[in-house]
Amino acid sequence: ESVVLLLLAFLPSGLTIPDPRQREALMQLEASMQTGGQTVLTDAELQLDTLLFKMKQEEMLRADFPPAMHFFKARHLIRTSPIFSLLQKMPKGGALHVHDFSMVDVEWLVKNATYRPHCYMCLTDNQSIRFIFSSRRPRPLSHCSPWNLLETVRAKMVNTTELDNSIMANLTLFTHQDPATVYPSQDVVWDRFEQIFLALWGLVTYAPVFRDYYYQGLTEIYTDNAMYLELRALLPEIYELDGSTHDTAWTLKTYQEVTRQFRADHPDFFGARIIFTVHRGVNISVMTDAVEEAMKLRRDFPEFLAGFDLVGREDKGRPLWYFRDALSLPVERGVTLPFFFHAGETDFQDRGQRPRPAPAGGQLSFHQFHHLFIYHCNIIDLLNKPCVINRLL
Ligand SMILES: *[C@@H]1O[C@H](CO)[C@@H](O)[C@H](O)[C@H]1NC(C)=O
Ligand SMILES: *[C@@H]1O[C@H](CO)[C@@H](O)[C@H](O)[C@H]1NC(C)=O
Ligand SMILES: *[C@@H]1O[C@H](CO)[C@@H](O)[C@H](O)[C@H]1NC(C)=O
Ligand SMILES: *[C@@H]1O[C@H](CO)[C@@H](O)[C@H](O)[C@H]1NC(C)=O
Ligand SMILES: *[C@@H]1O[C@H](CO)[C@@H](O)[C@H](O)[C@H]1NC(C)=O
Ligand SMILES: [Zn+2]
Repeated sequence: ESVVLLLLAFLPSGLTIPDPRQREALMQLEASMQTGGQTVLTDAELQLDTLLFKMKQEEMLRADFPPAMHFFKARHLIRTSPIFSLLQKMPKGGALHVHDFSMVDVEWLVKNATYRPHCYMCLTDNQSIRFIFSSRRPRPLSHCSPWNLLETVRAKMVNTTELDNSIMANLTLFTHQDPATVYPSQDVVWDRFEQIFLALWGLVTYAPVFRDYYYQGLTEIYTDNAMYLELRALLPEIYELDGSTHDTAWTLKTYQEVTRQFRADHPDFFGARIIFTVHRGVNISVMTDAVEEAMKLRRDFPEFLAGFDLVGREDKGRPLWYFRDALSLPVERGVTLPFFFHAGETDFQDRGQRPRPAPAGGQLSFHQFHHLFIYHCNIIDLLNKPCVINRLL
């Protein structure tokens, strides 16, 4: 828009064609105002930029252009794309939008977590699955089949590939069928999305899995050459084999310990911090307690707890305004609790229903992300902005 206005200002009153040199100068001015526009590339960086641009052009000439396709259909193309494998190796700064229950490849969950001893599974009324680890036979779960010990189930099978694949299919939205048919609406896809988290829950909140899961998540982020992580975490109650549980502070402390261990094992990794999150579907009293808890955790872990955020579907959930009293508590008490609110994951951007703060630190939301990821991130963007790979897909 600003270019158009500027151009108009350059037009002499007789409406002749503008001077092409002025147009060129304007375009350079515009480019210099973009992120990274003032960065001067070294010769090596220029060479890489040229190479990337060439690879990008080649990819754009192919019959199937991934950004123009549904992500599920493009996934395979992206995974085998030369530009993707180059980008994967490049340094990325921080991964600033990762969620606790979607940070690890589902294959690890199936091949590692569900193969541990004492892992029980049941099948819900509507064909989703639930897990629990327990030293004795767990109490029945309502709307779920009797618990089956996976070790026993697998021992009776000649080939466990199909079972493992069906578990994996429960833990991801990905489908080989036509995605528009499987997920005809936002309601359907969000329902499946939330079922996935319920299915993951019993696996990931088991203390021994929880530690290894987070370590594995850090490993995957490190392998993608991101150097820092900001993890949005619900800090759920974590349980042991005997059914005993740990509180929020224990969960945060465990994140901190595993992060320290990971840094000791990988000294060039910068580190990680946690953004404590609460589901936006809760009521005001639960939100108030959560903000109180967040202030306490921030006091006890001032370096490690980065701040606070809400999660869950924005369109159906409550707006920030609804929780204004709870969210104002830190300011009223003079306590520092940085907010890192999600922004822009809604269809109702312009209706003014939701106060919409600018995304913290210019981060990309998950939904903006796969549009932006490969094709809009040039080398300059990569050096200045985080480019994140969300693993749930
Ligand atoms: C799961 O991963 C952990 C940590 O890498 C490893 O120690 C363990 O042996 C693995 N377990 C299985 C069943 O693969
Ligand atoms: C699955 O079942 C649960 C409880 O039985 C219910 O709350 C939920 O809405 C169901 N989901 C679907 C997709 O039918
Ligand atoms: C197990 O079954 C899958 C298909 O369900 C098949 O692809 C695989 O080769 C089988 N593995 C063995 C060891 O028979
Ligand atoms: C989830 O797993 C169950 C049991 O293995 C299976 O029957 C069901 O089809 C799976 N659901 C999905 C969505 O793949
Ligand atoms: C808020 O939600 C919690 C948990 O679901 C519930 O125990 C509590 O009664 C609710 N409070 C009010 C005021 O609705
Ligand atoms: Zn998010």
